[in-house]
Amino acid sequence: MSSDGVNSGRRKFLTAATSVVGVAGAVGIAVPFVGSWNPSAKAKAAGAPVKADVSKLEPGQMVVVEWRGKPVYVVNRTEAQLEELPKLNDQLKDPDSLISEQPPYIKGIDRSIKPNLLVIVGLCTHLGCAPKYRPDVGAPDLAAGGHEWEGGFFCPCHGSKFDLSGRVYSGVPASTNLVVPPYTFEGDSVLVIGVDWEAV
Ligand code: FES
Repeated sequence: MSSDGVNSGRRKFLTAATSVVGVAGAVGIAVPFVGSWNPSAKAKAAGAPVKADVSKLEPGQMVVVEWRGKPVYVVNRTEAQLEELPKLNDQLKDPDSLISEQPPYIKGIDRSIKPNLLVIVGLCTHLGCAPKYRPDVGAPDLAAGGHEWEGGFFCPCHGSKFDLSGRVYSGVPASTNLVVPPYTFEGDSVLVIGVDWEAV
């Protein structure tokens, strides 16, 4: 867990889907925590699923949903961002997520059920820091080391970099991609984290 002011015992979950309690990205991007019709703190600690309305998520926007005491990053990726993903494959350690943790129904390089909507655990697979959301294409600090930077996540602890599918770059300390949690949807707009999607 990052120290973003999260205190599940005190934080008041709102019914609105866009309550902002303040996580500032490295480039000043406000990343709201989403509070929705979540279960009690006790139930959450025991592993209850959490729900969040993602219908208001703007293209390119990320929100954070707390699940089992972990931050889950939810990003509404744009078409342009999705198109760049295959071009990065040769710069990544596990482009097809063969050794990374994700549910069996998560396939392909978009690593998601709905192509645009990325849902990943926001804890670095190196030593567990919270990576920053860095969608700024071509950021000079992140293009260092011969990497193309098409947006993704940067871990400030030891410099691991992940693309917009949470896939880890080569030459950084983390060895596997960011974890995809079990999740599903209720209708079109309600994301449910902690329940497996039933593939048909
Ligand atoms: S914890 Fe992220 S790079 Fe070490």
